[in-house]
Amino acid sequence: MAASSLIVASNRGPAKFRRSLEGALELERGAGGLAPSLAGALRGSGAVWVAAALSPLEAELARAGSAGLELDGIVLHLLDMGGEVHDAAYRVIANGTLWFLYHGLFDLARQPRFDNAWYAAWERFREFNAGFAAAIADAAAPEATVLVHDYHLPLVGAMLASTRPDLKTVHFTHTPFCDPFELAVLPPRITAELLAGMMAYGACGFHTQRWAAAFEACCDTFAVGSGPEPRARRTEEPGSVPSGSDRGGRGRPVVFSSPLAPDRTSLEAMSRSVECERKGAALEESLDGRMLILRSDRLELSKNLLRGFAAFDELLAEHRELVGRVVFRALCYPSREDVPGYAAYRVEVEQAVAELCERYGSTGYEPAVLEVADDFPASVAALQRSDVLLVNPIRDGLNLVAKEGVLANTVSGSLALSREAGAFEELGAHCLPVAPFDVSATASVLYRGLVMDRDERDRRALELRKILLQRSPASWLADLLAAAERL
Ligand code: F6P
Repeated sequence: MAASSLIVASNRGPAKFRRSLEGALELERGAGGLAPSLAGALRGSGAVWVAAALSPLEAELARAGSAGLELDGIVLHLLDMGGEVHDAAYRVIANGTLWFLYHGLFDLARQPRFDNAWYAAWERFREFNAGFAAAIADAAAPEATVLVHDYHLPLVGAMLASTRPDLKTVHFTHTPFCDPFELAVLPPRITAELLAGMMAYGACGFHTQRWAAAFEACCDTFAVGSGPEPRARRTEEPGSVPSGSDRGGRGRPVVFSSPLAPDRTSLEAMSRSVECERKGAALEESLDGRMLILRSDRLELSKNLLRGFAAFDELLAEHRELVGRVVFRALCYPSREDVPGYAAYRVEVEQAVAELCERYGSTGYEPAVLEVADDFPASVAALQRSDVLLVNPIRDGLNLVAKEGVLANTVSGSLALSREAGAFEELGAHCLPVAPFDVSATASVLYRGLVMDRDERDRRALELRKILLQRSPASWLADLLAAAERL
């Protein structure tokens, strides 16, 4: 593979590979928000994208060298480090530990436990990061720009700093970052290694100023690489180009915030597609003129599905006139089913839906519906039609669905958005704010969204749209590249 001046790295690549019945290699849209948005922005760039092989077929392609795999002008480089390494890195450390930590999800009376099995998994996590660092070092031209994504790859920064100090490395975190009190849950030497890994990048980006500030507070508190005197703040304005002439000083990265935006081109294409129209017609038929409260998430603990259903329960209990007139549909993508806690959570969610149906349902009326499928056309069709979109995460790096909902909606539906979602920093003034732990207040927000008069709906929808039209995946990518250029 020829060396490239732009390398992107993430655990999940921009597309999933599969074989057709005739044996031909086919690609389908990668799951989640990051991959499709970034792939849109990189179209035609000639960048090399290093990603983990996530299926037996991808492992086979990786072993064959994955040469010649290309998607819209992006060269794909799949890495297979073996199932055991990936499982430990992805399931135990990235999603079983760091995800819980950054989203404040630990039930501290029971979790986490740093025992021998966990430390063995941390070793694998190091190997996983080292595998990426080696592949990046191989693929990168001198002084290339390297954009590494997410909490799966924090240690790559320190590894590349020692093997390829010529590279301009940027790490972008798509999750929240926790504050120093929460980070103190990690064993001190792991905290030190984690922060040292991240701080060795040239720049570290986050979706919001809040997460960037939390990261800086952790660096300050745990004092990795800093001298005794307090350090000047280095966090840059949202969407701004970092202005530092060097790294953040004394071995610190430049820290910046820049919110990602959905890929409007592919969203609009999907909105106009026959598939989406078909899903929309089926939805319309099932609604039979009723109002629609929608949520569309990965089936994920941080998304706060249970309190969402509890709020719907209070809504129907207090406003009996709505029984029979409104449906709550949850379209959920299956996610991380082998990460501890997820399967049990799904059972609880299914129970909540069943209870709602038992309590308020009648012949021909199913008040709550849970669909667990990776069905993007159905999600877009529902986003177009929703009267209220509920996005109530406990904590969220950004939440692209909130933004996609605003852009796709055609009926001036309301956006009920958690104050703890990164997207609230941009959309807070015109959405209906949700305090994610307050079930009763969430019920009131749902009510307000359903009964809001047409003028107010239109006004809010217009303002939200205006904000979102200001940014694109390309402007976000430009912020990352600008951060690299200033190094
Ligand atoms: O929110 C962080 C994130 O990595 C997103 O970038 C991505 O959309 C999502 O999680 C998907 O997670 P996974 O790859 O585990 O399915």
